[in-house]
Amino acid sequence: MEDQKGDKVIKTFDSIADRYILANHLLSFWQDVCWRRNFFEYLSESLEGNEIFLDIATGTGESFKYCHCNFKIKVGLDPSKRMLNIAKKRFSDVIFLEGMAEELPIKDSTVDLVAVSFGVRNFEDRIRAFAEFSRVLKTGGVLGILEFFPMENGSFINKAASMYIHHIIPYLGGAITGNFKAYRYLSTSIKNFILPGMMKIELESKGFKVVKIDRLFPNVYIFVAKKV
Ligand SMILES: C[S@@+](CC[C@H](N)C(=O)[O-])C[C@H]1O[C@@H](n2cnc3c(N)ncnc32)[C@H](O)[C@@H]1O
Repeated sequence: MEDQKGDKVIKTFDSIADRYILANHLLSFWQDVCWRRNFFEYLSESLEGNEIFLDIATGTGESFKYCHCNFKIKVGLDPSKRMLNIAKKRFSDVIFLEGMAEELPIKDSTVDLVAVSFGVRNFEDRIRAFAEFSRVLKTGGVLGILEFFPMENGSFINKAASMYIHHIIPYLGGAITGNFKAYRYLSTSIKNFILPGMMKIELESKGFKVVKIDRLFPNVYIFVAKKV
């Protein structure tokens, strides 16, 4: 039987798990570190409570290195077993769950912060995932999204960055991880993703008020939204 999109994506991340962190740093020239720091600074400014932090599409748990808010309970969720195995070895104070954003094994209105870095693009059903984020967050709870969006044409910098993402990353990422197909997928998933304006509309249709959208790089954006 043909694999669903979700199964293919999970296999892709399983296959690159061992070298995923190194590949991120090298391919972004360590810019991912600044983007992640900025992301959690913005989120901590908007937070009202600090009981439960849920990092969706947690991968190797990289977010827990940058989130310094004093949460009582920290949870990371991801469908890729190999990514989670690495995360569990790195962060012993975090509860890691195997699961999908579209069906969270979490009670209603219990979470203070949901964060997703570089994960939304991979969801099988983004709208269903946004509805789930809204369900598990407390009223006033914060949703943060850090993501790559399609590159808009225009300046020389945009054209150069687009060339790098679509023509160079698939080869470099393939060479670093040994999986060229995975990095072709990652590159294509950026090109085929929605634009930031559409994401705002989708979030607002699921009970969020978007309080901040910031562009960190020609096509890297931070979204901060509150559950109303
Ligand atoms: C590009 S990685 C990002 C990992 C981590 N958030 C980071 O910033 O390093 C994307 C992650 O999304 C996960 N993923 C794919 N589909 C998902 C889904 N439907 N629900 C939750 N996570 C998913 C993958 O397994 C992978 O670990």
